Amino acid sequence: MYEIPTKKLFLWIRDIKNSDQNIDDFYLLLDLVAGITKSDLFLLKINSKQKVFSKIDFYTLKKKWLEHTRLSKPIQYICGSTYWRNFRIELSKDVLIPRVETEQIVEIASDIFRTEDKKVVFADLGTGSGSIAISLVVENSHWKGLATDIDMNALHIAKKNHNKISSESNINFYCGNWWEPLINYAGMINLVISNPPYIPRNIYERLPSSIIDFEPKKALYGGEDGLSHIKRIISDAPKFLVKGGWVILENHFDQSEKIKILLREYGFDSLQTINDTFGIGRFTIGRYK
Ligand SMILES: C[S@@+](CC[C@H](N)C(=O)[O-])C[C@H]1O[C@@H](n2cnc3c(N)ncnc32)[C@H](O)[C@@H]1O
Repeated sequence: MYEIPTKKLFLWIRDIKNSDQNIDDFYLLLDLVAGITKSDLFLLKINSKQKVFSKIDFYTLKKKWLEHTRLSKPIQYICGSTYWRNFRIELSKDVLIPRVETEQIVEIASDIFRTEDKKVVFADLGTGSGSIAISLVVENSHWKGLATDIDMNALHIAKKNHNKISSESNINFYCGNWWEPLINYAGMINLVISNPPYIPRNIYERLPSSIIDFEPKKALYGGEDGLSHIKRIISDAPKFLVKGGWVILENHFDQSEKIKILLREYGFDSLQTINDTFGIGRFTIGRYK
């Protein structure tokens, strides 16, 4: 552990607050790579004689912050991890940084089956870092997850996260195009969840460099109207879901009504748009008749 000069650290924080840099990003960096939490800083303010120790030296910390501010590289990629729900999730350049709004999917799914105590077999299509599938099996110990992704490197990270967070072998991981690797589960799945790439072309092209230069295009880009992957997931869903099985999709702010039309066309009812915590119609759900 390295002792960090307290005064220098507070001056640094003051400078960041007085600049156009984001202080929350700095606190995240401190937490993830130095192991210094906001409450450590708060205690330090009360007792300035107390020492503060870091997992990395002051110089390296400075270098990492510069990498973030100069290149707009997200802190999560610099640190190779992030917090999501109750977990610390490992990341690499091959996976999307799991977003805070996506956390709600876990509650939506758990709520749908809350009154049923039967085993739920669910598919998490496009699992990325594995965050959704892992949370679901940790919070619902009798559930079984089938997690797929087109990217082998992403699956490697997802498996690593699963092994780190859970000692159970309750998720199977498959590489392939949406439903394709799950052919042996046709007609057996109770729930499909996906946060697919859904950004339309015109919006994708205008994303900030912190996203477009660092996050995988295949995790974000949803074709001309953003719906190309969603259409594929919905049109094949009837082959894989049990009657009465559910679909939960994350979508762009203006896609839910179009998704409901698609779902109706493919035999779903109980259609609903669910707002995220920012009041945006972020999730669309439906039940296969
Ligand atoms: C928006 S990210 C979601 C990642 C993770 N589920 C989350 O919520 O943070 C979409 C994921 O879908 C994967 N993906 C893209 N095209 C795919 C395809 N054709 N089949 C399966 N997965 C795909 C990407 O590699 C990426 O991991």
